[in-house]
Amino acid sequence: MKFKKNILCIGAGYVGGPSMAMIAHKCPDYRVTVVDINKARIDAWNSAELPVYEPGLDAIIKKTRGKNLFFAKDIENQIQENDIIFVSVNTPTKTFGAGAGKAADLQFLEKTARQILEHSQSPKIVIEKSTLPVKTALAMERILASAKGKITFDVLSNPEFMAEGSAMTDLENPDRVLIGSRETQSGLTARAQLVDIYARWIPAEKIITSNIWSSELSKLVANAFLAQRVSSINSISALCEKTDADISEVARAVGMDGRIGSKFLKASIGFGGSCFKKDILNLVYLCSYYGLQEVADYWESVIKINEYQQDRFMANILGNMFNTLAGKKICILGFAFKADTGDTRESPAVYITRKLLAEHAEVVISDPKALKNAAIDLAHDEGKISYIEDPYRAASGCHALAILTDWELYKKLDFQKIYKSMIKPAFIFDGRNFIDHKKCFDIGFNVYPIGKPALSRFEDQPSV
Ligand code: UDX
Ligand code: UDX
Repeated sequence: MKFKKNILCIGAGYVGGPSMAMIAHKCPDYRVTVVDINKARIDAWNSAELPVYEPGLDAIIKKTRGKNLFFAKDIENQIQENDIIFVSVNTPTKTFGAGAGKAADLQFLEKTARQILEHSQSPKIVIEKSTLPVKTALAMERILASAKGKITFDVLSNPEFMAEGSAMTDLENPDRVLIGSRETQSGLTARAQLVDIYARWIPAEKIITSNIWSSELSKLVANAFLAQRVSSINSISALCEKTDADISEVARAVGMDGRIGSKFLKASIGFGGSCFKKDILNLVYLCSYYGLQEVADYWESVIKINEYQQDRFMANILGNMFNTLAGKKICILGFAFKADTGDTRESPAVYITRKLLAEHAEVVISDPKALKNAAIDLAHDEGKISYIEDPYRAASGCHALAILTDWELYKKLDFQKIYKSMIKPAFIFDGRNFIDHKKCFDIGFNVYPIGKPALSRFEDQPSV
């Protein structure tokens, strides 16, 4: 079959895989190929067990793989054969040199740009899909502009706003698609080609265009604003615990103000995931770089509150369990950074587990999708850790449950049965305010939510 267009994506990760699957699904007349330097990852995309868990992804891969969606290893050939190239390689926080701990590490992006340059024999549109600091496109353009001969490259920015766990519905029905370009004739022509792809299934008014720098910055700012809401509500949860106010009631009352809105106001153990912390640190670095220290400090406080929230949760466990966890068994229900994903990158569960191990507690980890990643994360940690998928078996013989991920299945657990199998007094620390606290208290548990009065049989609450 002759395809209308050939599209390539470099980087078969959480973003590259699902977003290309959606384009292939919506544009059956386009050929979409995804490559990655990690060959094992490509094998996994070609197997029955995909490297990324997302509701609805399996079905779309089944429909498209081998028809107009391909996962391939021959990166150089693919660069030659495709005209539109998405770049979705990872851009982690730099761990060395200038900006270490804050700036984005752009080495993979630069390597990819050089690879594109080296193997291109015809003009290409190169699209940044990775989240990047403002002005990265300039570096990309400069590298690509060093092409000998007549090959031209147009660089576009098309940040991906989908969230993990709801990637497929977000991709199918996004709030907006943002495409940034240079405002030159060739930049605008390239932009129009990308608009054409999305226009296949996204209403025109949701496809917005901007200059390339606004596009790059908008992604960082969107993530910073979302994370800031979580830190804002989490900061107030600390105050609720001191004043007998209830954070869910406060969030509902505040969120009903149309100017504020109700989303991202769920108090929690803190935000995790590969993006929020990385992108805010990146924003902080950019602000400092441009001499805007007050602005940098403002955004850095969002991360500080997130760390504070995790420390508070841990202090609550320790304080309420009589200030000693040595030899006690704690069951962690949920290790993924949010529900409906197996991803554990920056998950608060990693931090909490390490704190528990430091107190010489024995940790039993349960999660329906993230146990494999949890075992990788904790491979070098010393202490007693076990991984048990079945929550009933995991909880049996434990002194406490710590609910760290809002998996729907935890709402439906038979807590009576769990209580019977646990050591008494049995505790629940609900880091997501997710289960029925009153019911669990009535069963016999001492229940400690976030930002709400504890339901405890012990009178003097230690102050944390
Ligand atoms: C990544 C970025 O981290 C994020 O900022 C951006 O918004 C989208 O891309 P994600 O897809 O979650 O997010 O990252 P990851 O799952 O690590 O996937 C990146 C892939 O790129 C990896 O499979 C890696 O092997 C691949 N890669 C990396 C290349 O193919 N070539 C490289 O040079 C470097
Ligand atoms: C985020 C952005 O939402 C998405 O637009 C961007 O493309 C990538 O980064 P993601 O990290 O996948 O997506 O998940 P998200 O739903 O934003 O959740 C991030 C973290 O915040 C999770 O740990 C989640 O549990 C937490 N969270 C979210 C809260 O604690 N409370 C809330 O009310 C919402």
